[in-house]
Amino acid sequence: MVNFDYQTPTRLIFGRGVVAEKLRDVMAQYGPRVLITYGGGSIKRSGLYDQVIDLLADKEIYELPGIAPNPKFNPSVIDGVRLCKEHSIDVILAVGGGSVLDCTKAIAGAACSDADPWDVVTGKVPTLSAIPIVDIITLAATGSEYDSGAVISRTETCDKLAYFSRHVFPAVSFIDPTYTFTLPVKQTLAGIADCINHIMEQYFCSEHIMMNDAFMTGAVRSLVANVKKVLAQPDNYDARAEIFYATTLGCNGIYALGNSAGGWPMHAIEHALSGHYDITHGEGLAIITPRWMAHILRCTEGELHEQAVERVTSFGRDVFGTTTAAESIAAIHDFYKSIGIPMTLHDVCIDDSRIDEMAHHVAVNEGLEHAWVPLHEADIAAILRDSL
Ligand code: NZQ
Ligand code: ZN
Repeated sequence: MVNFDYQTPTRLIFGRGVVAEKLRDVMAQYGPRVLITYGGGSIKRSGLYDQVIDLLADKEIYELPGIAPNPKFNPSVIDGVRLCKEHSIDVILAVGGGSVLDCTKAIAGAACSDADPWDVVTGKVPTLSAIPIVDIITLAATGSEYDSGAVISRTETCDKLAYFSRHVFPAVSFIDPTYTFTLPVKQTLAGIADCINHIMEQYFCSEHIMMNDAFMTGAVRSLVANVKKVLAQPDNYDARAEIFYATTLGCNGIYALGNSAGGWPMHAIEHALSGHYDITHGEGLAIITPRWMAHILRCTEGELHEQAVERVTSFGRDVFGTTTAAESIAAIHDFYKSIGIPMTLHDVCIDDSRIDEMAHHVAVNEGLEHAWVPLHEADIAAILRDSL
């Protein structure tokens, strides 16, 4: 078991009706000037926006609307930093999916610095403090509500990169599973694939303990069972709640304390796909997953090969009841296909024309030669080609 140093300062307030019950009290801890950040309109259609505005009637409200999926540095982060500085914002309330919250984290960190916001996001300038963040998360997927990371895209350079700072952990996250009743099927499924992949990125590593294996494969089994329930009945509260519980814990590291790091190779490759083509993150991950699993069996030798076969096999055994590595790979592919996730790059309108460019981008920027199974540029290109 490897050493760990773990602290998550975020308060989670989970369940039906928690916003009406506690948002006003939580926000009362902060000063009067609130920046509300949100996306393209889902919170207005669901009535959540009106509810929040009513609950914060005694506050001085500023707004940053229109944060897009795969949130963009320009204009959203830049506009948010400007608003925070102009109005001396006391707290930011993010209402929406992971993209809204990620953008908010970048704003919160960059607004407390005199440096160029891009230098803060890239880590060139360290984040020393941040405006406090409260969020109402409306999509079960990223786990951004319980972690210190954000993923920001810069369209001009096709960059999609991770920003981390302990200062941008949300102070309080409201998680009401009823908000996910209105999710389009595509987003429900992408959220499931994102969370399963977060778990897999932590499961596939060299040093691992039994307790974490049980924790992680149990969570994936729960996701597999509950997604079928919500496809049949979108307002199934208990199924939506169990999914949200799994996704909230998924990216925070708590599933894998004591395991060695795996290097997050599938995320690194997917970020090139969504950085270059603006596709939905969870769909990109679902497509990459079985191809990465198959590739690591081919590109490893000796002891590492045995380890890769063992991990791929045990994952399939404990989640799907399969017995071999090949069956495990087929099981995850077929599960995604059966629930309706597009499973080839062609299905999401990506052809082979930019594969070498993306492989180069990942090889130069993501350090996958240090992953559990090292991946070089040719390996990344091969995984992308196998995904066509
Ligand atoms: O923009 P609005 O109108 O709000 O609509 C959104 C958006 O179109 C919609 N939506 C959200 N909640 C809804 C809803 N529609 C109806 N009802 C609701 N309750 O869903 C669409 C997608 O939203 P988005 O926030 O982009 O999705 P998600 O939460 O999956 O976030 C994806 C982003 O998070 C990053 C991804 O790379 C991607 O940029 N990630 C962040 C991580 C983190 N911070 O830890 C880890 C992940 O690995 C991931 O990389
Ligand atoms: Zn993810």
